[in-house]
Amino acid sequence: MARSWCLPAALATLLLSGPAAPAADDMAAGQKLAQSVCAQCHALARARPGAEAGIPSLGAVAERPATTRQSVMTLVQGPHMSGLNLPADKAADVAAYVMSLRSK
Ligand code: HEC
Repeated sequence: MARSWCLPAALATLLLSGPAAPAADDMAAGQKLAQSVCAQCHALARARPGAEAGIPSLGAVAERPATTRQSVMTLVQGPHMSGLNLPADKAADVAAYVMSLRSK
């Protein structure tokens, strides 16, 4: 009897703790990483222009409809600019942070 609700409950727990719902410390770690790494080139807040003309702020990137957590992860895991190649966990943290800048 108990089994009939046990599995769905376990699945729900898995889903909630998965990448769809980033934990608060991922976001904090992502923010630190963005401030130390990404901010060398990107402004973080939406309103400010990039450190150099032509570089979008991460806030502005987050506002683009096409930007997703996955697209940011894919970008920073690759050789973005001079070979960022972040490991998946760091990429997930920073992507969570970037998406947290989206206003809606
Ligand atoms: C060495 C400078 C540099 C660093 C460091 C850097 N970026 Fe970028 N980034 C750029 C430039 C230049 C562009 C615009 C050209 C382009 O899109 O490749 C850009 C564009 C982007 C874009 C938009 C791509 C698009 O589709 O238009 C995203 C998202 C991004 N960066 C995320 C990040 C994140 C997250 C980090 C930190 C983990 C980071 N960048 C670190 C220079 C940098």
